[in-house]
Amino acid sequence: MSELDFTHRFVPSTQGPTQRVLLLLHGTGGNEDDLIPLGRNLDPNAALLGPRGKILENGMPRFFRRLAEGVFDEEDVIRRAHQLADFVGEAARFYNFDPKRLIAVGYSNGANIAAAILLLRPEVLSFAILLRAMVPLVPKPLPDLTDARILISSGEYDPIVAAENVQQLARMLEKTGANVTLHTEPAGHALTRGDISVAKDWLENLDSSE
Ligand code: MLT
Repeated sequence: MSELDFTHRFVPSTQGPTQRVLLLLHGTGGNEDDLIPLGRNLDPNAALLGPRGKILENGMPRFFRRLAEGVFDEEDVIRRAHQLADFVGEAARFYNFDPKRLIAVGYSNGANIAAAILLLRPEVLSFAILLRAMVPLVPKPLPDLTDARILISSGEYDPIVAAENVQQLARMLEKTGANVTLHTEPAGHALTRGDISVAKDWLENLDSSE
């Protein structure tokens, strides 16, 4: 079955198909349009791909099921991560972009599915900005993410994501060999200007090493 049936929004780069593509993954209750302004702010030249999570929790779109806040349905995390990874591959062919130029930008539930794709489908994703992420699952064995570069931006006073959980995520990703930057913002679960500025700096550094 074609996975391009994810409801999504694609904004091509005005600079041609060689530009990077930001995969914008919304939080619970968001949609494909939510992070378009953030993506544009982070990189004015990038193509933008925003899928909408297929799960509905009380009418709110999400990327995978949860049993309670912070308690995930692991089987569903695995299934949905593969579905979304397949969609990304098909979108690359359909919209003619280079999948190697993909950078995930995920917020909250979107950051968690991005982390799950890194862990389960490392061939699909090597770069990710994870905003207010937590551990989505612990795969055994861990994948080899030696070529991956990941920014995690957490909120010091986040009532949803415990500090130990973010640290566990960062440690697990480091164990895979990934280059992980963990930033802690003096904030709660909502994003701040500080998150955006850290993400921009991280993208600039990525540019200089490309
Ligand atoms: C999740 O369910 O992925 C996290 O608890 C974050 C959220 O969406 O509230």
